[in-house]
Amino acid sequence: MLVAPAWPYANGPRHIGHVAGFAVPADVLARFERLRGSRVLMASGTDEHGTPITYEADKLGVAPREFVDRNNAMIVEDLRRLGMTYDIFTRTTTRNHYRVTQDMFLKLYEKGYLVKKTQMGAFDPVSGRTLPDRYIEGKCPICGFDSARGDQCENCGNQLDPIDLINPHQRGSNAPVEFKETEHFFFDLPALGDQLKEWIERHDNWRPNVRKYSLEFVRNLKPRAITRDLDWGVPVPLPGWEENPHKKIYVWFDAVIGYLSASIEWAAQRGDPDAWKEWWQNDGAWHYYVMGKDNITFHTVLWPAILMGAGNLKLPDEIVASEYLNMAGKKLSTSRGQVIYVRDVLERYDPDALRYYLMIAGPENQDTDFTWPEFVRRNNDELVATWGNLVHRTLVNAHRNFGSVPQPEKLTEVDEALIKEVEAGLDRVAVELGQARFQIALRYAMTTAAKVNVYLGTEQPWHTIKTDRARAGTVLYVALRCVDI
Ligand code: MF3
Ligand code: ZN
Repeated sequence: MLVAPAWPYANGPRHIGHVAGFAVPADVLARFERLRGSRVLMASGTDEHGTPITYEADKLGVAPREFVDRNNAMIVEDLRRLGMTYDIFTRTTTRNHYRVTQDMFLKLYEKGYLVKKTQMGAFDPVSGRTLPDRYIEGKCPICGFDSARGDQCENCGNQLDPIDLINPHQRGSNAPVEFKETEHFFFDLPALGDQLKEWIERHDNWRPNVRKYSLEFVRNLKPRAITRDLDWGVPVPLPGWEENPHKKIYVWFDAVIGYLSASIEWAAQRGDPDAWKEWWQNDGAWHYYVMGKDNITFHTVLWPAILMGAGNLKLPDEIVASEYLNMAGKKLSTSRGQVIYVRDVLERYDPDALRYYLMIAGPENQDTDFTWPEFVRRNNDELVATWGNLVHRTLVNAHRNFGSVPQPEKLTEVDEALIKEVEAGLDRVAVELGQARFQIALRYAMTTAAKVNVYLGTEQPWHTIKTDRARAGTVLYVALRCVDI
């Protein structure tokens, strides 16, 4: 199984809304799959190109390279402390990634999927500088949100073109924007339209939000510019373009290719350079992508189109997209200053507290509000009171009274029934996790743990130990087996 968590932009430390989307659900799945014996490759890294980077670097007055170096280190630390178990966590600025991206570009080019066209580009009428999509703001033509960015509306998640914005102006000021002609490569998505539509329709296992966005998107496919007027990014591997310092490959085109390039890098690092093919050129492999909802169409349309166009590479199977984590009804957002950083939570709490909360009460199916009281309550009343307590009292009692797992006598009907129930609970959890229904799975797990607590409450091995040591040992044995399961 390939577990493919979306690549965080190297534009700052991660906040809890980010990791609720791409990180924790992916890690839960990867750990579970490893436990049940699957061969898992969890490959990701930081997404380091494009205007999401240059915009922030410009604001700070540092070079993009220095900016991403700093942020990559910070994000790696956030994710390490969160307990993420990536098999590889790399970056999109590696030489390997540039090579793989350029190879894919050339493959599509040679097959005629990339066409040169002139487009209207935005520029600053005062300085004459080109203005990347992200530097432009205006009203969203789709949902009417007032400060939609030129590349994407943060409110409705739709991808935009700056020229479609109502009243476009420069971000952070009211400076005007003008549009003039500029040459770019366009990806002929309509040429793959039927294939894409049919492929999406076949996936009735995807969450409703994923299907909905994707089908809407393919209904109205247009050729998409995959180069930009920008001096930070992967060079366009063609004569006349490669030398041009002001033209680069569009960040989303290179970022999604990261899943493949990271797998290739992982294989090379292990000294088994063809090992990536077991995941990418093997129909038996299962590919599982995990992200926030603003990433959906890049993974259900752009990335599959690149893969289809290039040929002989595995398409995504499961696309799991979370909704947004809010605070007081508003999306967590670094730029708007409404934010809780992962590292700040982990200064004060263990990672499991945060991971549990994000999985049981996070935005799996709808936008949800984060509150501290609820965070504390979920941990105290559920994780600690139910699961923590079960593990603690079983282990402590067995350790104190027996020094090891006690040898059981013949199990009673009640004992047998409990073990069966817990095993059935595990099967349910597996089925639900397999369908990315994390909250239902976790609720089964917790209800199951609660049943074992009831058993212990009835059997009271800490009392029977005084009168019937053998029975107390059997009860602890049963409880320990349940914990193990
Ligand atoms: N950096 C993007 C974001 O944070 C996600 C990129 S996912 C990728 O929204 F796979 F395309 F890299
Ligand atoms: Zn919108």
